[in-house]
Amino acid sequence: MKLDDLCATFQSLAFPRLGERAHPERQAVLDARAQVFTAVADDEFLADCIDRELRLIEEGRLRRGLSPFFTLPELGIHFTFGYWSPGMTPGPHEHTAWTITAVCRNWLEVLTYNREESYRRRGLVPKNRFEAPAGKVGYIYDPCIHEPRNTSDEWSLSLHIVSPRDGERPADQPEPLPVLQSASGVPVAGDAHPFTSVLIARQRERYLRLLTRILLKMHVAAAPALLARCFGLASSATRRLIQRSARVPVEGVQPDSTWRLARTHRDLVLTHRHRDNHVALDVETPNGPRQAFVSGASAREAVGLITREVIIDVDVLPGSLTAEERAAIGEALEQTGLFTRVRGEG
Ligand SMILES: [Fe+2]
Repeated sequence: MKLDDLCATFQSLAFPRLGERAHPERQAVLDARAQVFTAVADDEFLADCIDRELRLIEEGRLRRGLSPFFTLPELGIHFTFGYWSPGMTPGPHEHTAWTITAVCRNWLEVLTYNREESYRRRGLVPKNRFEAPAGKVGYIYDPCIHEPRNTSDEWSLSLHIVSPRDGERPADQPEPLPVLQSASGVPVAGDAHPFTSVLIARQRERYLRLLTRILLKMHVAAAPALLARCFGLASSATRRLIQRSARVPVEGVQPDSTWRLARTHRDLVLTHRHRDNHVALDVETPNGPRQAFVSGASAREAVGLITREVIIDVDVLPGSLTAEERAAIGEALEQTGLFTRVRGEG
């Protein structure tokens, strides 16, 4: 099954057109959910979604809440991936229109709350707890409050298919409970700060790492080309995973002849501090300086250069460093999101 096939399903079922002030019948959501169940069991479908997701990652925007990789034009229905680090939860939140959610990889645990009682008592009243392993597809029809969490030690990936009306306040409760988290993707104050580029780089790398791990286990025709795209976008560590796998033709994963990194934003302010036998690299954030990483005193000269230069060559960082130590600094710079690989050279 392809993404287009699932979209055709939504078109053929009785979902309201975009802009219509209506919700679909429950049966339409149930019928769609049955098709989503078939879709997420099919790696062709998932690869198709990852293709769209990589386009979204390429746009390089900071994501808050759910960011759709695809929106059905006539129906306004959003398709979004959810990335769940170990232990992660968005907190208790409310859905006010239909949604269909599938766990694609690993698992989630979901707490639900009694919405009516919670509003009546002005506090969350637990109702249920259930486990959602990969392949499970749930749906919401009436407004509901829930709290999913990744209770495992591995990352999880979920697919959310969401009504364009989710988030509208329902007539019965015009104001949300204060304890509920907003799922809004609206930019917040500070998004124009150079440090936002660091957050974007960190987010991109985390998402690419998970997508890469998933693609490496997929045996569908589209996987090698998608892995080659991940290779082009990812950090050195993720690139190594792809190269070692030998899943991509060599021409798609040519190593660069030099390991050159560029500061993720020209105006990013980096400083360093020396203490005892260590040197710390700090980055200026909207909330003041934050430590990005610490290295041994032998890295003092290299870290000094990193605070001054916009482009650096990892292999020739100054100081009495071994090749492994230079590589460790290069990887730390990429993992912290302060620097990213310069593309298209070498
Ligand atoms: Fe949710």
